[in-house]
Amino acid sequence: MTKTVDNEPVVRVRNISKRFGGNQAVDDVSFDVTKGEILGVIGPNGCGKSTLFNCLLGQYRPDNGSIELDGIDVSDWSPPRRAKHGLARTFQLLQIFETMSVRDNLKTAAQEHIGSAARRLFMRPDMGLDGEVDDLIERFRMAHLADELAGNLSYGQQKLLDTAMALVSKPAVAFLDEPAGGVNLTMLADVEQQIRDLNVHDGATMVIVEHNMEFIFALAHRIVVMAEGRVLMEGTPDEVRNDPRVVEVYLGGH
Ligand SMILES: Nc1ncnc2c1ncn2[C@@H]1O[C@H](COP(=O)(O)OP(=O)(O)O)[C@@H](O)[C@H]1O
Ligand SMILES: [Mg+2]
Repeated sequence: MTKTVDNEPVVRVRNISKRFGGNQAVDDVSFDVTKGEILGVIGPNGCGKSTLFNCLLGQYRPDNGSIELDGIDVSDWSPPRRAKHGLARTFQLLQIFETMSVRDNLKTAAQEHIGSAARRLFMRPDMGLDGEVDDLIERFRMAHLADELAGNLSYGQQKLLDTAMALVSKPAVAFLDEPAGGVNLTMLADVEQQIRDLNVHDGATMVIVEHNMEFIFALAHRIVVMAEGRVLMEGTPDEVRNDPRVVEVYLGGH
């Protein structure tokens, strides 16, 4: 199959490794992210998914390997510089400001991506962002919660807000670490729908680490399966579901 320009990867991950003492948490991981896709990353607890994200987004310096964004090697860039150039993320644990309203949380997240820290200091908090923020609040069906303190939301709503904060700047790629983690069943369908909408209608490109299989198999176009720090396989949800190696790492007592 010949690749068109449209299929050029927006992110290229090559040979990422990270060791903690004697523990090889991430071991030579490579994959591409294509523009417009939802790429799932799954694997048993402790197989290195969050560590991989930390290496890709600059929280950790990997021992080896590189990440390219639109053909530019960003491996030596700081996390804010990566964010400013289109690599957004959520963390496994919530990063919302509980004493601020939903709207102000989103504005703050949007400002993170506008300029340097110094410039942010001199910017009025409501500078030109209201439209974008309200649009996203609407899209996430949180209009009735816009003025509510984030600390008063349910856990599922807080996770949704956290996800919205990663997407408010329309990043080139959003890396989401367990957006469905701890979310109750009712709310889960909402989160799934919101993420799908952002992908289908806005063309948002996302890499999603997720523990909830049903959720990620329903959303992802392609899935990377990790086991013990390595890529075990990569394929469509159907290919992954039917691969005996995948069944084995989940049932094999690791
Ligand atoms: N900051 C750290 N220091 C030492 N070991 C770590 C650190 N972060 C993660 N690990 C270890 O690295 C491995 C992978 O962890 P993690 O990336 O959190 O896995 P996952 O997100 O897939 O559950 C685990 O063995 C974990 O204990
Ligand atoms: Mg994790």
